[in-house]
Amino acid sequence: MKRMGVLTGGGDCPGLNAVIRGVVLRAAKYETDVMGFRRGWQGLLDGGQTTLLKLDDVEDIHALGGTIIGTSRADPFAVPDGPDQVRRNLEHHKCQSLIVIGGEKTLGAGYRLFRMGLPVVGVPKTIDNNVAATDYTFGFQTAINTATDAIDRLVTTAKSHGRVLVVQVMGRNSGWLALYAGMAGGAHQVLIPERPFDLDEVCKNIKRRFGNGSDFSVIVVAEGARPADSKALPLSEPPSMDGAEDGVARTLAKIIAERTGLETRHVALGTLQRGGSPTAFDRALGLRLGLKAAELAQAGKFGMMTSLRGTEIVAVPLEQALETLKTVGDDLIKETGDLFD
Ligand code: F6P
Repeated sequence: MKRMGVLTGGGDCPGLNAVIRGVVLRAAKYETDVMGFRRGWQGLLDGGQTTLLKLDDVEDIHALGGTIIGTSRADPFAVPDGPDQVRRNLEHHKCQSLIVIGGEKTLGAGYRLFRMGLPVVGVPKTIDNNVAATDYTFGFQTAINTATDAIDRLVTTAKSHGRVLVVQVMGRNSGWLALYAGMAGGAHQVLIPERPFDLDEVCKNIKRRFGNGSDFSVIVVAEGARPADSKALPLSEPPSMDGAEDGVARTLAKIIAERTGLETRHVALGTLQRGGSPTAFDRALGLRLGLKAAELAQAGKFGMMTSLRGTEIVAVPLEQALETLKTVGDDLIKETGDLFD
């Protein structure tokens, strides 16, 4: 019997299980097995961490957050003989293809392995929405909803106390989550990595609001946002991979309180943004991407990645997703300029 391999790598996100379900549903049409390699690339490096995924196993996982086959940030190119271990284990488990669901790092490893002759198909994933060559990544919309719900709650308490609230969201190197959650949550300022901010301007904008009779202010800041003058924001700890780290919000809130004299609080939403059940949009998008990925694997179209283009699911060369990160462009920053000036 033919068999496809599938793995989920990098930060998890809502919708991963919908993709897995799509792969298994479509593979069943081809009378093909699906072997799940557990915990991202680690499962293929170890070789033993596998789960055969039958239709019964995926019956109701579309609404489940996270990934039933686990994930990790393992990198086959970070271990000696990693690529050959992957190749050997794929052959050992009799997989004629490997569907790799991940962000830029996971897909990057997949592309390198494809260039070495391995049968890889990619599916872009991240709450950051920063994988190029696709309009949106699944997980992004659910994370916006989660962050927006939190901001809605923070607005009521900021208003009640007449405070400044600094809300840190994920996004080490892109501001999509900060911008969309900021817009949806009614933030007064949004700070993103793509547009280094001026601390004086941020404080002036706050004072202007309070001066105009508004007695609270909400600022949404991406964890990767930095001031134009980097010395102006002595982070309490260097930016880390730890999504729960609150360095930017903590330091920014301290400076705002000192410079404006206003009561200021900060919250880092952290890993909360990665959890929970996917929205209907992300469930449907995940399913469509999974169906397409299995179709590409069945057709032997390796080195390709599924992609959302407008409302269509298409296939694009995997390398197009890896040339650059998709960051918030100047046009959108200009269009929503009121949140940045
Ligand atoms: O890449 C997605 C992401 O959620 C980033 O936004 C965040 O900085 C990082 O993962 C957190 O990684 P971890 O879950 O390993 O702490």
